[in-house]
Amino acid sequence: MSAPRYPLAEKPAHVAEALVHDVDIYDLPGLIDGQTDDIHRLWKQIQDSCPPVFWTPRNKGHWLLTRFETMQSVAMSPQLFSSSDIFIPQGAAPPLTPVNLDPPDHTRFRQLMMPAFTPAALARATGRAQDVAVAIIEDLKTKGGCEFVSAFSSVMPVVVFMSLINLPMEDLEFLRGLSGKTSPGNAESQAAWATLTAYAQRQIDLRREARQDDWISSLLDAEAAGAPVTREQILSMVLLAVSAGLGTVATTMTFFATFLATSPDHRRQLIEHPDVIDGAIEEMMRRFGVSNIARVAAQDTELDGVTVKKGESVLMVFPLAGLDESVNPDPMTVDFRRKAARHLLFGAGSHTFIGNRLARCELRIFLEEWLKRIPDFEIAPGTRPVETTGVTNHIREVQLVWN
Ligand code: HEM
Repeated sequence: MSAPRYPLAEKPAHVAEALVHDVDIYDLPGLIDGQTDDIHRLWKQIQDSCPPVFWTPRNKGHWLLTRFETMQSVAMSPQLFSSSDIFIPQGAAPPLTPVNLDPPDHTRFRQLMMPAFTPAALARATGRAQDVAVAIIEDLKTKGGCEFVSAFSSVMPVVVFMSLINLPMEDLEFLRGLSGKTSPGNAESQAAWATLTAYAQRQIDLRREARQDDWISSLLDAEAAGAPVTREQILSMVLLAVSAGLGTVATTMTFFATFLATSPDHRRQLIEHPDVIDGAIEEMMRRFGVSNIARVAAQDTELDGVTVKKGESVLMVFPLAGLDESVNPDPMTVDFRRKAARHLLFGAGSHTFIGNRLARCELRIFLEEWLKRIPDFEIAPGTRPVETTGVTNHIREVQLVWN
């Protein structure tokens, strides 16, 4: 399903001709029928051929940022760049709490997310991650191959997320089916939001009838700034957790698996030198970033010498932060022993993803348990990974085989 098409926006008078480049984030130059087998290379070409801050007439017209330092400074300046809308184009998704709030409200509501990530909740979720990963891989290993997304990466992280939030496991297939569909780039996005909203509301209502020992129940009795949290605010937080938690870990894991399938040398390093694993996770997170997140200029401002006007959207192409040679030399090379890989996989500033320890832990469990049982695997001859982009860089499918 393709994204809605908008007529080309007229160039605003303050945008210099040299800063205009025709880049549709939902249909990036170089995609064929909306897909490619190497989405990061396509984005890298844009980083190399366009100015660090440039404007595109696509998707109602917006700015794109492609350099680490610029993105970091925007993400860390909420007074200049608001989170009131983090998608392109503006209005493509409902506002959610706390991701669409700015300080001081953001600080108060982010605090209310914390009980979802207590050490006890994380321990429960990672225990579950281990069990699920082992069970699926044990089943797969004698099969000689699989489509990795449907067989593994769309299952394990969703089970972990459901365990973290304490959602009933019988809803697994339902939630897997919704993963990725809420993205503004998806033609089914509006229907998916409606379905997810009804689901989140039902989970809240169940706990309103009988409290459980979990995060959603904690929200029902919580206060923000001395007042009870409203029904709308609770729904908004639960919706954010469910929509943000379903697809991102899966996508990152699939990029890892796809890369390792093409590099026996990197697989061998992980198997023979387990001490390299933490560096390998950071390095692959740097090389294979996922989220493209926007801000809205809160006032007229200068960004790297470019005037951005109040109300304009500025897209931080976070995956390009890790591919910026000014912070990571030779950025397209995956080097597990790279010193201090710098990336913005989880964002920067006050909105940085709270549960990044959980995400890293899931990625580690995948690597350890998979390589222990299936040390050698490759992309099935005659097939290619199907990769797309938009709000996230994404692998729809990748066929793997092994002996
Ligand atoms: C590898 C996996 C993940 C990646 C790459 C990722 C990426 C991000 C990024 C870039 C942001 C910052 C957004 C911004 O600056 O506006 C963010 C925020 C957030 N993420 Fe994730 N995320 C991941 C996993 C998850 C999971 C599993 C959950 C839910 C359990 C989740 C829930 C959230 C929430 C609630 C926020 C908003 C925090 C705030 O506004 O203060 N994310 N994530």
